[in-house]
Amino acid sequence: MSQFAPDSLRIRDMRLRILPDARAVSLAAAEIIEAAIREATAARGQAVLGLATGATPEGVYARLAERHAADELSFRHVTTYNLDEYYPISPVDPRSYRAYMHRHLFGRVDITPNRAHLLDGSVPESAVAEHCAAFEGWIESDGGLDLQLLGIGRNGHIGFNEPCGLSVDEARRLRTRLVELHPVTRADARREFGSAEAVIPTALTLGVATILAARSILILATGAHKAEAVAAALTGPVTAHLPASLLQSVSPRVTWIVDQAAASALPEALAAASPIG
Ligand code: F6R
Repeated sequence: MSQFAPDSLRIRDMRLRILPDARAVSLAAAEIIEAAIREATAARGQAVLGLATGATPEGVYARLAERHAADELSFRHVTTYNLDEYYPISPVDPRSYRAYMHRHLFGRVDITPNRAHLLDGSVPESAVAEHCAAFEGWIESDGGLDLQLLGIGRNGHIGFNEPCGLSVDEARRLRTRLVELHPVTRADARREFGSAEAVIPTALTLGVATILAARSILILATGAHKAEAVAAALTGPVTAHLPASLLQSVSPRVTWIVDQAAASALPEALAAASPIG
């Protein structure tokens, strides 16, 4: 990512942009992703993106699809790896992240089907560890992630790396694996599943180590319900109890774009943040 808007701040050596609303966040994020696609394609012949699902990136994917429809952007040289998938789940279950990605992006752009990768919620249980290791191997053989797009959970999770009591060093070494979802995550997945009890309680997630290894990390947050997690991740201690705070340990590669509501618990920190000249 080379271009940054003049309204960027620097906080704990991470870039932070605070924009008026969710739409502005989506447009700014789509612009950065498009620039990353162009730069990586020019430099290496392909761009490798790590993608997220959930409510936050829906507007980003809508904008990228719009740019594709206007003949301004192609995904022909783009390879993608998604952060997570429920487990077990059928890829054609509309609640699966595979189905989400098809609806919001893959079905609307010219990406090659065997370049759009998600962890597979239908592999046998005995093959989960092997599948997770293979997924990391694919990312590595594609040269690593040029850009990782992230949202943040209300509990500070990134991907489905949930709050836990590990040391920072242990948390930073977490690999791609099967995890149990945190109660807050299950409550927030009611949107897709109807009730917290109906949410599939386990998932496959890219590990913290793979996320932190991305050459650039773009993390988005919108809405007042994210304000506490955003403030803690940007200004609190680095701790596995709030996995997004681990981004501070690779700060020069991290850009946050949040709307005013998600920034509403930040005022003191903002006074201390320095504008990027
Ligand atoms: C989704 C993911 C999650 C979400 C987070 C925020 O692939 O990895 O970490 O980014 O739960 O979700 P929304 O955007 O729905 O608030």
